Amino acid sequence: MPPTPASQQVPLSCVPPTSRPFVKWAGGKRRLLKDLSPLIPEHFGQYHEPFVGGGALFFNLASRRNPAPEPWATLSDANRRLVRTYRAVRDAPERLLERLAQLATDHDKEHFYAVRALDPDAFADDVEVAAWFIYLNKTAFNGLYRVNRKGRFNVPIGRYDRPNICDPGAIRSASIALQGAKIHNEGFEKVLDRARPGDVVYFDPPYVPASKTASFTDYTRDGFTLDDQARLRDIAAELKLRGIRVILSNSDVPVVRDLYRSGFDVSTVSCGRSINSKASARGRVGELLIT
Ligand SMILES: C[S@@+](CC[C@H](N)C(=O)[O-])C[C@H]1O[C@@H](n2cnc3c(N)ncnc32)[C@H](O)[C@@H]1O
Repeated sequence: MPPTPASQQVPLSCVPPTSRPFVKWAGGKRRLLKDLSPLIPEHFGQYHEPFVGGGALFFNLASRRNPAPEPWATLSDANRRLVRTYRAVRDAPERLLERLAQLATDHDKEHFYAVRALDPDAFADDVEVAAWFIYLNKTAFNGLYRVNRKGRFNVPIGRYDRPNICDPGAIRSASIALQGAKIHNEGFEKVLDRARPGDVVYFDPPYVPASKTASFTDYTRDGFTLDDQARLRDIAAELKLRGIRVILSNSDVPVVRDLYRSGFDVSTVSCGRSINSKASARGRVGELLIT
């Protein structure tokens, strides 16, 4: 990636006290922060979040760590459009805000479906991808991100009177927080090559569905299978052996309890879920925190 032109860099002298996710994301962890934060040691090397999604825990930690003289976090996700969006927020927040302001002005039903029909993978510029991504995130039904087998975004328009499409405070504070982060588009296994003893790794994978109707594993075209869950457990065990602090969240279902039965500490939390395509499946879902 070419270096960020000086005109687009965010002055670190203007660090706001808090940063937060700039997208609404299924499985977002804001409500679990009070349970997750105590699991992070006071001092650690690098922070890794291989299923970054909305990045709630990263942004929460960033409010404590930035401005940082050196990169302190590595964020990654298999969703390439999301990763390109993060890069644009980090590297070109002002140009992105101009595009979002334009999209906010143009927003109506017809415009929504015209933007939805675009193929963001054909855009050369990360800012264009980010504008597409954030616009749809703020205007689609329930803020869902869902694609069909061909990778086409297929969520209908949501019922919002005044969607907050262009939020300069959220984008600028996220951009400042992301100055401390490297961002990669890759599978979660890559963390094995990156993490060193003394580092922290937080895994927030697509959850094992609590029931068929409550399932939401279509974050990427490939979904996330039980074999993936087992591979993740093996990687978590390997990292622990190497002296890396591992924190993992997942749904409280027997198959997850079985996977982490030996060699891990498992505790239960309950968490109000705000995103589910079926209103009847919203509500309090038990979750496990695993270390
Ligand atoms: C539950 S979400 C993460 C939620 C996030 N931590 C938050 O607080 O908003 C799971 C993420 O994993 C990503 N993902 C799915 N399969 C993956 C894989 N094999 N490797 C890496 N990321 C994957 C999805 O794109 C999605 O962003």
